[in-house]
Amino acid sequence: MKTSKKKRITIGTVNIGERARELVEDAFLRNRISSGRYVRRFEELLEEFHGVKCAVAVSSGTDADTIALSALKEDGVNEGDEVIMPALNFISVANSAIHAHLKPVFVDVDRKTFNIDPDLIEEKITDRTRVLIPTHLFGKPVDMKRVLDIAEENDLFVVEDACEALGSRYKGELLGTFGIFGTFSFYVAHIITTGEGGAIITGDNRYDGILRSLRSHGRACACKVCQLNVDSGECPYRFDVEDGDLEDKRFYFLRIGYSAKMNEIEAALGIEQMEKIEEVITKRNENLTYLSGILEDLGEYMVMMRQEAHEFISPLCMPMVIREDVPIERADIVNYLEERGVETRPTFGSIPTQHPAYRFLGYEYGSFPNAEWIGRKGFYVGIHQNIDKGDLEYIAECIHDFFKLKGLR
Ligand SMILES: Cc1ncc(COP(=O)(O)O)c(C=O)c1O
Repeated sequence: MKTSKKKRITIGTVNIGERARELVEDAFLRNRISSGRYVRRFEELLEEFHGVKCAVAVSSGTDADTIALSALKEDGVNEGDEVIMPALNFISVANSAIHAHLKPVFVDVDRKTFNIDPDLIEEKITDRTRVLIPTHLFGKPVDMKRVLDIAEENDLFVVEDACEALGSRYKGELLGTFGIFGTFSFYVAHIITTGEGGAIITGDNRYDGILRSLRSHGRACACKVCQLNVDSGECPYRFDVEDGDLEDKRFYFLRIGYSAKMNEIEAALGIEQMEKIEEVITKRNENLTYLSGILEDLGEYMVMMRQEAHEFISPLCMPMVIREDVPIERADIVNYLEERGVETRPTFGSIPTQHPAYRFLGYEYGSFPNAEWIGRKGFYVGIHQNIDKGDLEYIAECIHDFFKLKGLR
């Protein structure tokens, strides 16, 4: 019996070292804890890593998606326009379209990649379609060549949701750098974590001030770091407004924004992890390769995430989906693993047909067979940077034992 194993193999991990503690302490000593110089430093590290001009840190990945979509409203996207996204997705991607007053339109996914099926995108395009969100689910890159070609032919903006894919590459290029915007989440289950947090990156500097304004209520301020929240506590631009009755830029609003700033404590955690990002990504990738190898013989029973030659995966997790003709219920294997200390999560499900929140759109069950199958039969386990080879072997042993118990080995 393996129930004696004390260690729990978790989906996510939190690493808070000396560096982060020092930065947090410094923020406390200076009495500067809301968005300030450390948030900006974290943004600079994201900019340097991705080779882009602009990164804007926000309070969650959901805010990153919502603000990215809202920014496009300043570039011709109108209320009620349609946003194409995969049916299999974390719910917040659809929610962000709703929050931005746009309409999510769903496309089924590919059974091998778990990502949006490019062959099915064009049939969903209408004269209201303006944006395409190819979510890189579990860290696996979407076929960006196909997506970018479709976007170009149909004049669509691409907002790449890379919330689960910091550090993954498609044909050598980092995910998040293909679209007009790339979005990231730093929630605890993700590649790096700030507790809660997110970011938007873009190579188009025109959006820098718009994104900063949108994350801060729509203020007229467009500074990369708020001057009031650095040591001087004074802002030389504050009374620059020359319009009507109002003169204080911080209390003069250009657009309807959000309250979505990251704070200094979160940024301190992010700085430490971005300084070690290559190590984190390498370890996650090695774990994926190792676990894929020791589970390969179960390919006849389950579809698992695979890294192809043209990609490098910085994985969120290891997803596994029980094949339809295999007489096993997900609940059985998940319970078996949980009882043995291996934490699991379900693979999200088809947003339009498996989540009551989206029933109002009127899609019928069966419209997204692949997403629904993954929603019904899939689960994932952790393979993060604090999981070692022994842990992976333990996970594989438990899974093998389960199949043996069911008479399938
Ligand atoms: C693909 C994807 N997009 C967006 C989000 C939203 O991120 P957050 O939880 O930071 O709001 C998540 C969260 O898990 C996600 O998995």
